[in-house]
Amino acid sequence: MTRDVPLIRAWSRRSGTDDNPGAGPAGHRSGDASVPALRAVGLSRAYGQDESLVWAVDGVDLDVPAGQTLAVTGPSGCGKSTLLQLLGGLDRPTDGEVWLGGRRIDRLGERALAGLRRRAIGFVFQSFQLMDELTAVENVELPALLAGASPRTARRRAAALLDQVGLTDRARHLPSELSGGQRQRVAIARALVNEPLVVLADEPTGNLDSAATQDILRLFGELRAAGQTLVMVTHDERVAATADRVVSLRDGMLADDTRLDGSGGTARLGALLDWEG
Ligand SMILES: Nc1ncnc2c1ncn2[C@@H]1O[C@H](COP(=O)(O)OP(=O)(O)OP(=O)(O)O)[C@@H](O)[C@H]1O
Ligand SMILES: [Mg+2]
Repeated sequence: MTRDVPLIRAWSRRSGTDDNPGAGPAGHRSGDASVPALRAVGLSRAYGQDESLVWAVDGVDLDVPAGQTLAVTGPSGCGKSTLLQLLGGLDRPTDGEVWLGGRRIDRLGERALAGLRRRAIGFVFQSFQLMDELTAVENVELPALLAGASPRTARRRAAALLDQVGLTDRARHLPSELSGGQRQRVAIARALVNEPLVVLADEPTGNLDSAATQDILRLFGELRAAGQTLVMVTHDERVAATADRVVSLRDGMLADDTRLDGSGGTARLGALLDWEG
């Protein structure tokens, strides 16, 4: 996958050449560096009640600056997925606040929240969650169509993104005709099609072998270089080591918050080339 164009291209809203300039949620434009891309304040989520009450996320305070790649780690059941779903507006907190680009989102109505998710948040899941009956390019363009892009614009963006994830020759294939790594690259292209403020990824390499994992991490490295804010949940220390910062959760609470040294994603990604399957 050699590419000589950045993963976020000239049609980017950031470059002001989009056909829908300035649209999107408050703070979507990347101007104010002092506003974190994501903020959690006292964020908590309980499941069950009485004896079965579980605080899956318990009083998390977290700022994710724009452009940061953050890895969230911790043992199974510590609340990583719950935290990611709260941050992405897929779940509602029991207590606390979620802010996206300077806008509080946890109290938005369902319609407003769904619209915001579509335009400002790109999700990547361990199990890809592609639409089986749609081709790769149709999967990628669907969120753009749902966000109101014209069919022509949606197809153009989808084709450009598939090109950048190295899948132009698979654009008309169904997910069942693609490898796991190829499916995840389609899912990443789909997550990017509306130029989200943040990309949230839950175990994005969890179902992938070592070579496919390296492909995905290279893509994330390109996103990082392009200034994309990325939060990824991972069990894999080698994946976490490619981030700018690693936070770990224990029993729903932040247990550690480590900034990795500034040696740069390229150097760290280079080390991944030594991986053995
Ligand atoms: N819908 C639910 N109902 C009840 N309890 C839940 C629900 N979802 C999650 N939990 C509980 O909340 C806690 C955190 O779950 P979560 O899925 O966020 O953990 P995780 O860190 O993502 O784990 P894993 O690494 O296994 O994916 C767990 O104790 C889990 O059993
Ligand atoms: Mg999980």
